[in-house]
Amino acid sequence: MDNLKNFRRTNYCGDLRLSDAGKTVSLCGWVQRQRDLGGLIFVDLRDRTGLIQLSFDDSTDKEIFEKASGLRSEYVIAATGLVRERESKTNKIATGDIEVYVTELRLLARAETPPFEIVEHSKANDMLRLKYRYLDLRRPDMQHMIATRHKVTKVARDYFDEQGFYEIETPMLTKSTPEGARDYLVPSRVHPGKFYALPQSPQQYKQLLMLSGFDRYMQIARCFRDEDLRADRQPEFTQIDLEMSFVNEDDVMEIQEGFLKRVFKEVLDVDVQTPFLRMPWREAMDRFGSDKPDLRFGFELKDISDIVKDCGFSVFSSAVQGGGSVRLINVDGHAADFPRKKIDKLAEFVKTYKAKGLAWTRLHDGQVTSSYQKFLTEEENKAILERANAKDGDLVLIVGDVKDEVVFAALGALRCECAKQLGILDPKDFKFLWVTEFPMFEYSEEEGRYVAMHHPFTAPMDEDIDKLETDKKNCRAKAYDIVLNGTELGGGSIRISVPETQEAMFRALGFTDEEAMERFGHLINAFKFGAPPHGGLAYGLDRLCMLMAGADSIRDVIAFPKVQNASEPMTNCPDFVDDKQLDELSLAVTRREEASDEE
Ligand code: AMO
Repeated sequence: MDNLKNFRRTNYCGDLRLSDAGKTVSLCGWVQRQRDLGGLIFVDLRDRTGLIQLSFDDSTDKEIFEKASGLRSEYVIAATGLVRERESKTNKIATGDIEVYVTELRLLARAETPPFEIVEHSKANDMLRLKYRYLDLRRPDMQHMIATRHKVTKVARDYFDEQGFYEIETPMLTKSTPEGARDYLVPSRVHPGKFYALPQSPQQYKQLLMLSGFDRYMQIARCFRDEDLRADRQPEFTQIDLEMSFVNEDDVMEIQEGFLKRVFKEVLDVDVQTPFLRMPWREAMDRFGSDKPDLRFGFELKDISDIVKDCGFSVFSSAVQGGGSVRLINVDGHAADFPRKKIDKLAEFVKTYKAKGLAWTRLHDGQVTSSYQKFLTEEENKAILERANAKDGDLVLIVGDVKDEVVFAALGALRCECAKQLGILDPKDFKFLWVTEFPMFEYSEEEGRYVAMHHPFTAPMDEDIDKLETDKKNCRAKAYDIVLNGTELGGGSIRISVPETQEAMFRALGFTDEEAMERFGHLINAFKFGAPPHGGLAYGLDRLCMLMAGADSIRDVIAFPKVQNASEPMTNCPDFVDDKQLDELSLAVTRREEASDEE
């Protein structure tokens, strides 16, 4: 096997152009493929920048020619040669006008046949790709994703540095303060029976840094949450985490708009218009059924509870009389795209959001078909279609439920599903939105109490401060989310900086003073020593990169992600540990997972 003694790479493969013709270059990389045409050998050489063709012919040194004839896909080589114009050009690759006529060739490593082809748009199944993630990451589309992530992170560091933010690291081994998702715990060896928690976010530390007078903080922060995975959720993920002192909501939002404008320009050359639209949470729910609405299309929700509250169709009337609502969307202009069979599928779809069914009216080619019209009076039917602004060619979809949340969740998801099925979602159309005035609390059925919708350090809106303990349902927070194309990109708030308000907040969450002290004593005490008004925000870096790179899942922008069941197929973690290790940690395992077939 050869080595790199006295060899120095001069260029990356994908950077060479016709203007380099005549130059002698030294390149390194992997063999994409080798074609042996008898007296002629072509080798496509790949590195992170792309491909270039190496050529060998009858004038090539015999030893080199023989070595080239032994090359196979994924062998690692180094080559020196002359850049020259190609006889048969191709526009399939950026270097398609040229080739390198090789005068020196070194074989650095052989390779077994990979379990899948190292090409763009792999057809290999996800599990196989993740098991051999290091090979998957060789593929050009994955290289592009990871490079995009690097650029986004770099712009974040540059931009926030220019705006006076200090990058400060906060601990990974922290105190468990269960409020939010489940914690990942780390046993302490030196304190038997005690545990650290991996941070769900650096929230408390960054607030304490404001108390310390750092004024502006940023961190590319790793966060850990033991929650169910989805396409936009991983158990460990990264935030661009920010906090600022002496600010109100406008200050925070303005800085963030500057960042997003900059990062989209620098990474994608896309001009983003600022300031972004702002919409109170209530309006977002009423119009889009979601606190992260996708504004790339219409199909807005309309409330028809007033029309149907006493109608003869009990599905509608009982929903309203039971304290809920009946609402509709008009998939306007698309009745033709949704024949009866497809509507039935949509009815199945809304059931996954706990809706009991889907009522509909289809206005197609002058004909009106409907699942419910026969149960209603002519006036009621007319009023519904008027409210929907329905005309020929439209499809009106209706959901009613005694729980408003079910109606919002079902119709909010349905409008997105229809847009998806219609193929009208342009991933390059970036529609930003601030959602503001979030409710302070949400009722947790599981816990039987109100919990903080954002987190317990979020300040109530000035006009709602009295509602903190008296009217939790209607108490609004100085919280804001940045939403992009239906994804919650980031969230933040102005924090409580007055000790009395923080105490009232803990009481509102149902903590006794002792419980609050036990869990959050460090923060409560700190606030007694002069806390500046402060606020901040955290972006999900993975989500930002996913949307910018046009990926479907945050998995694609994470080098080594976890799969659905929170394991990592390549290393097979989590895994059992030795009894000795358990012993040192004073731990006894009471229940073990059965070894799976794959292990
Ligand atoms: P929040 O919990 O809203 O706020 O998180 C901020 C952003 O982090 C991203 N995110 C995730 N990304 C991938 N996988 C996950 N499991 C996951 N969970 C959250 C989202 C989200 O908008 N400390 C506060 C921020 C603050 O108030 O400053 C916080 O963590 O994009």
